[in-house]
Amino acid sequence: MEKTSRESFTFIDNVLHIDGVSIDKLTQNHKTPFYLYSKNQLQRNLNFYKEAIADSSMSKTLICFALKANNHPDILRFIAQAGLGADVVSGGELNHAIAHGIPAHKIVFSGVGKTTDEIENGIRLGIKSFNVESIDELEEINNMAKELGMKANIAIRYNPEVKARTHHFISTGYKTHKFGLLEKDLSYLVNNMKTYKYCTLKGLAIHIGSQLTDLSATNEAVHKMCKLAKNIPELEFLDVGGGLGVSYHPDDKAPLVFDYIDGISQIISSHGLDHIEIVFEPGRRLVATTSVLISQVLRLKESDGHNFIILDAGMNDFARPSLYSAYHKVEQTHKKLNKPLLADVVGPICESTDCFGTNREFNNLNKGDYVMIWDTGAYGRTMASNYNMRPATEEIFI
Ligand code: LLP
Repeated sequence: MEKTSRESFTFIDNVLHIDGVSIDKLTQNHKTPFYLYSKNQLQRNLNFYKEAIADSSMSKTLICFALKANNHPDILRFIAQAGLGADVVSGGELNHAIAHGIPAHKIVFSGVGKTTDEIENGIRLGIKSFNVESIDELEEINNMAKELGMKANIAIRYNPEVKARTHHFISTGYKTHKFGLLEKDLSYLVNNMKTYKYCTLKGLAIHIGSQLTDLSATNEAVHKMCKLAKNIPELEFLDVGGGLGVSYHPDDKAPLVFDYIDGISQIISSHGLDHIEIVFEPGRRLVATTSVLISQVLRLKESDGHNFIILDAGMNDFARPSLYSAYHKVEQTHKKLNKPLLADVVGPICESTDCFGTNREFNNLNKGDYVMIWDTGAYGRTMASNYNMRPATEEIFI
């Protein structure tokens, strides 16, 4: 079992194939840049979760796919058909999830800034829970539910004050982060739930960060949440969030899904909480490796010994390298030999951060050739923009 699986993308006779389909067939009919997805890879990635859960001692689980990672309709229909739920963070995502077949009772709504309209919509739809991130938010949900004459299901998002080792832009579980409630505020709410008569406390939730490759912070956070949960008998579920990373770079040490699930399940068991439903909110680990971004080389440029490969894809199409200095492997779609070239891979946007990688190695690469940027299925198309008035990036699903 590979730590980060990408079996759908293979080279046959030195040419990229996606589930057996040659890239040449696709570039003939589609203009670059485009995101290319493999449904088989998505199935495989989901199977890792399903198999690990089946092997664990957890009796009831729900996987709520984090829509922010990818909201392609084909992916959402697949998610719905596979019986998964969704983690949403806006009214737009909520409606999109419902429109693609994910039932409201499997949807959790996270985020520190839910608006009045979003709260009203979520209550009317009867979502599984609002993952509440502040005392003020709970008051608003309660007032709205009262006005509607309905009850709202809520979970309290706990900020466990653990330091997750990841990029500081995507770390969320410490008190300097805007997310969740610290233990004393959470206890205050739990002890005063009777004041919030129109809200039913169903769960506790955590999410300590994204692209996590060290399980110790996750396990510590789950352990801290279980300690609190043991004293709240009415709880029906514990939401352990998302965050499991992938190995974008050969040196990344992303854990196996099996080890991640096994660690969580053992902690739950050790607290005698096997009867409680466990909710997972994976985004990245389900979809990152389902896609590559295909781009054409517009031209090559040399500046006094410094080489640039100028692509037709830019930071507006795929923002992770420019936003987080994230590493993504860039490779030729047609492997060639000889004429080695060491170059920076850049896009056409008028910013120096519009760079997909520096000092990358290529062979015999020419104007008009195609390259692939790996692992773009998570936070790729969903974070794309039309900056510089560029058109929307196409998505092709195999
Ligand atoms: N649950 C909550 C409450 C979240 O905020 C997130 C991600 C997830 C689940 C899913 O996390 P995942 O399993 O995908 O790590 N744009 C950044 C990532 C931002 C993550 C935001 N929250 C990137 O490209 O790395």
